Amino acid sequence: MADAEIGVIGGSGFYSFLDDVTEITVDTPYGSPSDSLFLGEVAGRQVAFLPRHGREHHLPPHRINYRANLWALRSVGVRQVLGPCAVGGLRPEYGPGTLLVPDQLVDRTKARAQTYFDGLPLADGSIPNVVHLSFADPYCPAGRAAALTAARGRDWEPVDGGTLVVIEGPRFSTRAESRWHAAQGWSVVGMTGHPEAVLARELGLCYTSLTLVTDLDAGTETGEGVSHDEVLEVFGQNVGRLREVLFDAVAALPGSEARDCPCGSVHEGWDLSIQLP
Ligand code: ADE
Repeated sequence: MADAEIGVIGGSGFYSFLDDVTEITVDTPYGSPSDSLFLGEVAGRQVAFLPRHGREHHLPPHRINYRANLWALRSVGVRQVLGPCAVGGLRPEYGPGTLLVPDQLVDRTKARAQTYFDGLPLADGSIPNVVHLSFADPYCPAGRAAALTAARGRDWEPVDGGTLVVIEGPRFSTRAESRWHAAQGWSVVGMTGHPEAVLARELGLCYTSLTLVTDLDAGTETGEGVSHDEVLEVFGQNVGRLREVLFDAVAALPGSEARDCPCGSVHEGWDLSIQLP
């Protein structure tokens, strides 16, 4: 039996998810993930939790080994991933404490390994071939539905849909950048949503982003600009109810065998030259 079927990747200020856990270390052809995997059970479902920045928050967004993180989760059996993360709001009505479940993504990162199919040999000698997967709809429809229902069930009315723009960081945006992001009609801004979502897609995993607004971004607020302390403080204030929403979303996700979304069949028509874990 697989160690886990559902993965939760915790964000800034979110370093533990379950109380009763088994800690395992996992190595991957891409190096080490951000931390150990913490295995436990929620509502009869086996869950693997991974703190995205490491349990001591030692990894900035651009140094997270996203490929190792997703690979490690898949290698223990995970097929569905929930990815909570802290974001800044790009509209005044998306203030701190807003929970937005995006349906679109814009990549404004600059220097991150964002594919497994890069043609470079792995340690076992296999060479990934060129593969172009569809990414028009970056998030799992079933995962989004589970997250939205779970939030409503906890009286936390979520914003259903919107665009997450992901910047390279680790600095926050200038006011001009932020106003430009807002003028494009994008909803929230973060630093980790890419390449997490696309790597999940490449591994045939369902991926759902749950963005928690911790601040109004620089173009929307009129104060001193965003600070990391503010982000951690607001995330900390909301982590309890976010955990409850995640528990309920885990319980509501269809089982790995029962997935009827397109996420698991993305490789149809492609002859992969590497063995997925
Ligand atoms: N994470 C939390 N707040 C953010 C912001 N304003 N910009 C980018 N990433 C963030």
